[in-house]
Amino acid sequence: MPVEVLIPEDALRARIHELGAEVAREYAGKPLTIVAVLTGSLIVLADLIRSIDVPHRIGLVHASSYRGATTTGSTLVINEALAPDVADRDVLLLDDILDTGRTLAALVDHIAVRGARSVRTAVLLRKLGRQIVPLEPDYCGFTIPDAFVVGYGLDYDDDYRHLPYVGVLKEGMIGRPPRDP
Ligand code: XMP
Repeated sequence: MPVEVLIPEDALRARIHELGAEVAREYAGKPLTIVAVLTGSLIVLADLIRSIDVPHRIGLVHASSYRGATTTGSTLVINEALAPDVADRDVLLLDDILDTGRTLAALVDHIAVRGARSVRTAVLLRKLGRQIVPLEPDYCGFTIPDAFVVGYGLDYDDDYRHLPYVGVLKEGMIGRPPRDP
């Protein structure tokens, strides 16, 4: 396998369960909408909401600045077509990874101007030493070293999302030409 395990499946499960319980405690009785950032946070969304035993809605937003490469693209594109109705909702924005912070910071503003009652943030992973935009996530699963990670929703060239763990691509894998479909 060209991927080295960084966070195994059981550690992900345990931590996400803890986060879900925390979210449930803090949002009990509130009109919670979890807005997940596609595509990377699909898997963490599915697991997290099953640990949140208070009523809540889910919404999706598509934002991308990485396009099959491992460096940050210059413009962040937010797909308006998917924007959920968040008026008077307490929104928890969920992303797979906090890297430079540009994506989440832009999305917080994007949601706030749509009339949300509150906007907080949750990330599965936070990369050390990469943040440019100051933003403290309200919930964070794991802090990781500055390496390109895949699995559990995260991709390289749209592959590896299905891995049940978070891993680091082994030397030599990044920069390879795209694989055949
Ligand atoms: P920013 O820099 O805006 O980036 O905080 C957040 C988005 O960048 C992508 N990203 C990664 N995707 N492995 C990935 O598969 C990584 O190591 C990685 N680092 C950043 C991701 O889409 C995230 O939402």
